[in-house]
Amino acid sequence: MEGDDVTYLEAARTVDGRAHSDAATDAFRAALERPAPGADEGQGSADGVRVFEAGAGTCGMVRRLLADGALPAGEWLAVDADERVLSAGRDRLHEAAREAGYGVETEGSGLLLDLPDFDATLRVHFAVGDAREVADDRAGDFDGVVARSFADLLAPDDVLALLRTAAPDGWYHLPLTFDGETRFAPEHPADDAVIDAFHGTMRNRGRAATLLAGRFREVGTPPAVDARADWVIEGTSDGAGTHGGAAYPADEGTFLRIVLETVVASVRESEAVSAATLSAWTETRTAQLERGALGYVAVNRDLFGPVP
Ligand SMILES: C[S@@+](CC[C@H](N)C(=O)[O-])C[C@H]1O[C@@H](n2cnc3c(N)ncnc32)[C@H](O)[C@@H]1O
Repeated sequence: MEGDDVTYLEAARTVDGRAHSDAATDAFRAALERPAPGADEGQGSADGVRVFEAGAGTCGMVRRLLADGALPAGEWLAVDADERVLSAGRDRLHEAAREAGYGVETEGSGLLLDLPDFDATLRVHFAVGDAREVADDRAGDFDGVVARSFADLLAPDDVLALLRTAAPDGWYHLPLTFDGETRFAPEHPADDAVIDAFHGTMRNRGRAATLLAGRFREVGTPPAVDARADWVIEGTSDGAGTHGGAAYPADEGTFLRIVLETVVASVRESEAVSAATLSAWTETRTAQLERGALGYVAVNRDLFGPVP
């Protein structure tokens, strides 16, 4: 990811929101409401759910649950390697919870969110570090493992190792896992060369979701949900801004600019495309972006299921 990571993650929020599949979101939210073994039924159950979130970023997942009135009671450990990003997430979550009328207390670096309609609390803890190391001595401590737009950053075996933080009857939710296909619109003659080189810079050419789903099947626990969840940004055909005068809705122009910069920087470093070709492609794509005519699709999948 190039540029300011907090800016990128915040700009991605509306794109992420459109991409989520209903099937995985519904399964995930049902799992959050399922009481831990031994607890009472319902969202107000005694101890609630325990979640390990890897690569939490600016806490977009928890903030989305909050915005939808779907925060569970229980414990949520948000882990990210980037201290600045996680701290921005903590501040934004605090602010959003306060604005939504939740009782918010701090507990060390953590936040206690009192759910307004239930006599229950979600304790959110934050840990800065490599999720693989934080997970190391936490085997079986959680009901579920969440990692959004993250599982593609790790080797499949590392993802499987992370899932060992969940109890044997636990679950995983891996939404927006990239699956190795990128498209820009309108078509450009150098697209195949540039996009092929871009995917060539990724582990397994970016086919993370396919490989992971295959690994789950191999070990006898296929995903309960494996659904498309693509990032889609439409360009306007004539470049005329249609979103209140802006070329793209919300801050999606910024998201797309950072995506474009990331593609160009990776391809340049790979040296797999001639400098002249890459420069012509970049010039055309940048001009299209500036007038709102650039479209983009990244193929992702939402994976949800029982831990192997
Ligand atoms: C694409 S972002 C997704 C953030 C967030 N899950 C979301 O959907 O908004 C990936 C995040 O993973 C973090 N990250 C990358 N490698 C990591 C690792 N090994 N352990 C923990 N966090 C990591 C990055 O700092 C970044 O915040």
